[in-house]
Amino acid sequence: MSTETFDRIATIREFLRAAGAGGRSIGLVPTMGALHDGHGTLIEKARKECDVVVVSIYVNPTQFGPDEDHERYPRQAADDEVYCEVRGVDAIFAPSDDQMYPEPLETSVRPGIEARRLCGPFRPGHFEAVLTVVLKLFAITGPDRAYFGDKDFQQRILVARMVRDLDLPVEIVSCPIARESDGLAISSRNRYLKPEEREVASVLNRALRVARQRMADGESDPAVAIEAARTVIDLVPQARIEYLEVVDPERLQPVGTVSGPVRIAGAIWIGETRLIDNLECDSKRKRRRKKKAEG
Ligand code: PAJ
Repeated sequence: MSTETFDRIATIREFLRAAGAGGRSIGLVPTMGALHDGHGTLIEKARKECDVVVVSIYVNPTQFGPDEDHERYPRQAADDEVYCEVRGVDAIFAPSDDQMYPEPLETSVRPGIEARRLCGPFRPGHFEAVLTVVLKLFAITGPDRAYFGDKDFQQRILVARMVRDLDLPVEIVSCPIARESDGLAISSRNRYLKPEEREVASVLNRALRVARQRMADGESDPAVAIEAARTVIDLVPQARIEYLEVVDPERLQPVGTVSGPVRIAGAIWIGETRLIDNLECDSKRKRRRKKKAEG
């Protein structure tokens, strides 16, 4: 069956009502398009786990700040259709702004405490806009499962929190970060990088891995681990650090001492391009494993 594309709320609803009849499960993969292998892992997982797969493609204007890249964000509808077609996607929902926001919204979702750290302070209003559009997409498509990548770990945590708090009947499925061979997290924004910038862009991932290793080796002071990461990034003149933080993996609050699982996350600018990345660190488990190996 080929992929059908819908640009209206009424028609995607009608399609999904028929396709989901008889208890057939619906999987939603929300995206902003310019599909790449990061999105591909989500789509493939959804294809394995659900009877009907719908990919939404919508460059949501409200989640971009006034100085951000809404205008130049890549749009490639025809390529995206082919990308979905070859992966057996049943439907694409690609609405216009008029469909999603026929009038400015009076109502929105206020994110929880998990929005206060990491990207939150640097992108005011961003997560409120993301949660609001994700809730609208859930209401439009009624999925049984929705797929989110750990590339945007904070977003995934906030969506899962919204689902819990508001009793939404959808299961949030997380997918690991898909990376280029040098470690750079795949992102639609990577195409902004000039060739000489692309060459150094994996520095964020390298820096986070250095910090993770410090903690795995027993460093319990997150500031020391962060400093080690900072030193790696400072060696690249084109790179400017926005933030580097070690947080607890549930509430995303800074930790004073590393004594269990944490996430180390960072954002850097390379020229005009903002890159984010994060890694799961489990110091305790690693230490226990090491001890076991030693004796
Ligand atoms: P977008 O940036 O297009 O990402 C869509 C989904 O793909 C997100 O869940 C994101 O985490 C995941 N993704 C992107 N790159 C990835 C990678 N390298 N590895 C694994 N997953 C990856 O995130 C958004 O769009 C929007 O905020 C959206 C949720 C659609 C709301 O507008």
